[in-house]
Amino acid sequence: MSSWEHSLKDGRTVLVRHAKPEDAKNLYDGFGAVVEEGKWLPTFHVNATVADWVNWIQRTYRTRDILMIAEVDGEYAGHLTLQPEEWMASKHVAKLGIIVVKEFRHIGVGHGLMVSSEFAAKQIGYFKIILSTFHDNEVARALYESVGYRTVGVRKDHFNMDHGFIDEVLMEKLLV
Ligand SMILES: CC(C)(COP(=O)(O)OP(=O)(O)OC[C@H]1O[C@@H](n2cnc3c(N)ncnc32)[C@H](O)[C@@H]1OP(=O)(O)O)[C@@H](O)C(=O)NCCC(=O)NCCS
Repeated sequence: MSSWEHSLKDGRTVLVRHAKPEDAKNLYDGFGAVVEEGKWLPTFHVNATVADWVNWIQRTYRTRDILMIAEVDGEYAGHLTLQPEEWMASKHVAKLGIIVVKEFRHIGVGHGLMVSSEFAAKQIGYFKIILSTFHDNEVARALYESVGYRTVGVRKDHFNMDHGFIDEVLMEKLLV
């Protein structure tokens, strides 16, 4: 399977590769830590177990799900998921999710994951990626815009978070 390397702002390199079952614990911990931050994801507690992550990783070997790991100095630094749209007529469209471990943010890991995801998506026939984010997630929105995503809509007061109602910003990118 393919992997990609990108230079980071601090001079190090991020390696982006497809997930292996051994990554499940890191994925579980990484996702749980972002849920605990309570600011970036529309979920309040973690339901999936480490075993569920193993199943998801194994599913990527036989489906069009993509799960990519970012590693810096051999350490898990974040991950990105691409999941197929369910409609038969939307098989060219993948839905993207991304998180970067707090200690590794703002140095380009997210950028490396986003760029790599386009190569991985095209390899299996996707040619459009969609995503959504909170209106107040300025870093995520800046990142998505910097790699060419455009805003296609805003869902007003779509999420009722602890800190109040948040608009959902819908974005997309055509890969052609
Ligand atoms: C959003 C997230 C994935 C970005 O990953 P990252 O590795 O920090 O991103 P990068 O360092 O590659 O890029 C961040 C971009 O935002 C910009 N940025 C950084 N801090 C910023 C700020 N406070 N306000 C606005 N833009 C900011 C940077 O300039 C950079 O753009 P550039 O590369 O053009 O300079 C990461 O912050 C994260 O995991 N956040 C918590 C979970 C989350 O929000 N997931 C996405 C949910 S939709």
